[in-house]
Amino acid sequence: MTETLPLVVAITGASGAPYAVRLLQSLAAAQPTWLIVSDHGWRLLQTESGIEALAQLRAQVGSAAWDAHVRTFDDKDRGALPASGSVQTKGMVICPCSMGTVAAIAMGTSRSLVERAADVVLKERRRLVVVPRETPYSDIHLENMLRLTRAGAIVLPASPGFYHRPKSIEELVDFVVGRILDHVGVKNDMPRWSDSESA
Ligand SMILES: Cc1cc2nc3c(=O)[nH]c(=O)nc-3n(C[C@H](O)[C@H](O)[C@H](O)COP(=O)(O)O)c2cc1C
Repeated sequence: MTETLPLVVAITGASGAPYAVRLLQSLAAAQPTWLIVSDHGWRLLQTESGIEALAQLRAQVGSAAWDAHVRTFDDKDRGALPASGSVQTKGMVICPCSMGTVAAIAMGTSRSLVERAADVVLKERRRLVVVPRETPYSDIHLENMLRLTRAGAIVLPASPGFYHRPKSIEELVDFVVGRILDHVGVKNDMPRWSDSESA
């Protein structure tokens, strides 16, 4: 029997809550997903997507898929399953990822479950995808992202392409989410460049 390992997903306090919701919709339909939301992650879900509580997030993701595949963890609980390297996971996506969380992971501080889970994924040489959203970047931001890249993480900025000629915000969101899914090995039909469009 092949068992599908859970993918850890964290939502932190950077702009881009719609990316997080769409990513969760795609993942919850496909595979076990362990979710951690920081305090400011909740603040951004509320500000940008009107999601005030877990029940609303579950409803937006889809309650059937959520109940089948999503398990939540408290960001303050640094003893929860994702905090241990002996617990096997497929890796972790942090979407969106604040510069504060980028810095904390780059320094290995592990002062929250999000930070500790990312630290574990790096030390266990598993896949870590961070989706930063900030503009412009300071020297400090860039150095921290370089540290993450050198430690094995994939820094995948929320920078949608326009070559698929998006007509809606949803299509821009899908472009970024598709790239994330590609990097964690989840098949998807999100927009991507195709040769036929250049003819
Ligand atoms: C409305 C709002 C938008 C924000 N947008 C960003 C952002 O795009 N990028 C970023 O790095 N921080 C942003 N921040 C600041 C972070 O939320 C803040 O640094 C927070 O401490 C990050 O904590 P966390 O990583 O534990 O969620 C924003 C804060 C608010 C309230």
